[in-house]
Amino acid sequence: MTILEQEENIRQDQEDSAQEAMEQETATHGRPAPAPTAGNQTLVGIDLGTCRTVVIGADGQELEIRSVVGYPKDIISRQAVGDGPLFGHEALEKRNFLELCYPLAEGVIRDASERDYQAARELIHHVVAGIKENSGGGPVSGIIGVPARASLMNKEVLLQVAREVMDTTLVVSEPFMVAYALGKLNRCIIVDIGAGTVDVCCMKGSVPAPEDQVTTFKGGDYLDERLEAAILRRHPGVQITRSLACRIKEEHAFVGEPERPVEVTLRVDGKPVRFDVTEELRTVCESMVPNIVEQVETLIASFDPEDQEETLKNIYLAGCGSRIRGLDRMLTNALQDYGDVRITCVDDPERIGAKGALKLALEVPPGHWPEIGLMFG
Ligand SMILES: Nc1ncnc2c1ncn2[C@@H]1O[C@H](COP(=O)(O)OP(=O)(O)OP(=O)(O)O)[C@@H](O)[C@H]1O
Ligand SMILES: [Mg+2]
Repeated sequence: MTILEQEENIRQDQEDSAQEAMEQETATHGRPAPAPTAGNQTLVGIDLGTCRTVVIGADGQELEIRSVVGYPKDIISRQAVGDGPLFGHEALEKRNFLELCYPLAEGVIRDASERDYQAARELIHHVVAGIKENSGGGPVSGIIGVPARASLMNKEVLLQVAREVMDTTLVVSEPFMVAYALGKLNRCIIVDIGAGTVDVCCMKGSVPAPEDQVTTFKGGDYLDERLEAAILRRHPGVQITRSLACRIKEEHAFVGEPERPVEVTLRVDGKPVRFDVTEELRTVCESMVPNIVEQVETLIASFDPEDQEETLKNIYLAGCGSRIRGLDRMLTNALQDYGDVRITCVDDPERIGAKGALKLALEVPPGHWPEIGLMFG
């Protein structure tokens, strides 16, 4: 199906299912009888992502929301959508009325503008309020994942915001949460390919130290930017946006030999035209491979030589960028000089980070949280 056909279908589907989607996204999929843990606390794991934020509660609640906040543009917009702000799917759905703000850049709160800071604050308040509401209004504590090498300042800004709505919060690195969810705490490497960052982290039997982790900023957003530019360069005059480029990527992303040509319909001067974007998509997706290989190679060499053989069989790809077709195979080939290399894409890349954070919150008593990361409470 073409992008434009999809867009039409999506628009129709959206009308039918907007209500349902909003309910699913914002009202939390709460199980009927909340069972707070740790006294009257509800423990949660939060994956605060550039693209999506996922919260999973010990009482079975789950909430997944696009990390976007929308503010009405003017008095007319206000009449249509109220004073706002609107969040996630609802904000995207009503985007013509809104100024959209994506408050997380490269996986951390943008602190460049007051608006971004406020939007991040409102987003965190919104998701925690959703959890609280469904668990009888009691206190919420938990663990939040941030990019492996988020700066101290980023973490402190996040804690400052979380403190307003949560009782105890611990900030840990995202790939560590993935490793914890997989139960792979030793001789293992996690590559988390998100929207803002690619985080690579090695597990050596304890909480990863800063030198065990690398964050680079060539994640999915970077691919969207490059794909938009590549299509425009090859087909001047085509009406391509970052959002359309992202949709082409999410539907067709691949590396290596294409299974079939990637043909999409885009508009030129308002008219639909078919374009073959196979080469552009391939080149852009493959551009992330050398970077990941380099990070993995650096981290492999940091393991005890006796552990390297097993580590090479325990490399996991997480984050939704791990859905790029053929990426596991191409990375395996690029590492063939190392012998037997096994790279596995995790199941459920959307939720695995939040699941790991919750598992950690449930299994490690809060008294030991300061040994794992930065916290308050
Ligand atoms: N099938 C797919 N193929 C390639 N990329 C995809 C696919 N599905 C989603 N993505 C991309 O994955 C990225 C989102 O991944 P994820 O939800 O793990 O990110 P995030 O956790 O929000 O970001 P970060 O960890 O950087 O803060 C987006 O760039 C999205 O376009
Ligand atoms: Mg992520």
